[in-house]
Amino acid sequence: MTRPSQRVNVLDFAAAKRDGRPLSMVTAYDWPSGRLVDAAGVDCILVGDSVAMVVAGRSSTLPATLEQMIYHGEIVSRATTRALVVVDLPFPLQHLGVRTAIEACARILKETGCQAVKLEGTAGQADVIAGIVGAGIPVMGHVGLRPQAVHQLGGYRMQRDSDQLTADAQAAASAGAFAVVLECIPQQVAAAITRSIKVPTIGIGAGPQCDGQVLVLHDLIGLSIDRVPKFVRAYADVKTSISDGVSRWRHDVEERTFPGADETLG
Ligand code: KIV
Repeated sequence: MTRPSQRVNVLDFAAAKRDGRPLSMVTAYDWPSGRLVDAAGVDCILVGDSVAMVVAGRSSTLPATLEQMIYHGEIVSRATTRALVVVDLPFPLQHLGVRTAIEACARILKETGCQAVKLEGTAGQADVIAGIVGAGIPVMGHVGLRPQAVHQLGGYRMQRDSDQLTADAQAAASAGAFAVVLECIPQQVAAAITRSIKVPTIGIGAGPQCDGQVLVLHDLIGLSIDRVPKFVRAYADVKTSISDGVSRWRHDVEERTFPGADETLG
């Protein structure tokens, strides 16, 4: 199947599942990362609440606020023309009732220009997903390891309760989610869920048989400062490039070889 030349939309997600075309999703949080990731041709860009960890250096995603998600979401939406942009609903808005969740998602859509929201939840949040979808706002579900529930789950660990995971993913799909992220679950469970629901599954630490894959940009390009999960493959070493570049520049300043004639204006 040829890739759409217009901005990707939720119907393209459904078509990708139907046609067996793998979906690619990666996070972005700012203007340069939005521009570069969009130009790389990914299907979907997630403005994740992981911004609290990889950009702001917090130890979990819990501190991310609605205002921060709107701030980063607006920048990334404006930086992109092609990928479907999804913005995370930050904790705890999906737990405060359908009306509160719709109000927050509507603000995200109106104030950022994104095309969809993602929310973490179990089958217990199905009514919230149905309410948001009923308001005309596309929702991506997120089950398995739900980082917003890290304290309840006892850490960032593999989730293995296959009955619970299946029920959560099926509830999100039945409630109208257009795709479901499966995070850190056994590959056989992810494969079975992928076969059992009509909408695409997007895996992270969930094996190769999901309909698509997502990674945090900073992990993918080797820019994460803290420990990187085992399921990550780094395709670049940006951390080393930045350190080397800045060290070489500092050296040249100290040696008075920067600026040279080419960088001197008059
Ligand atoms: O916030 C995030 O980056 C995410 C991905 C890990 C799926 O939710």
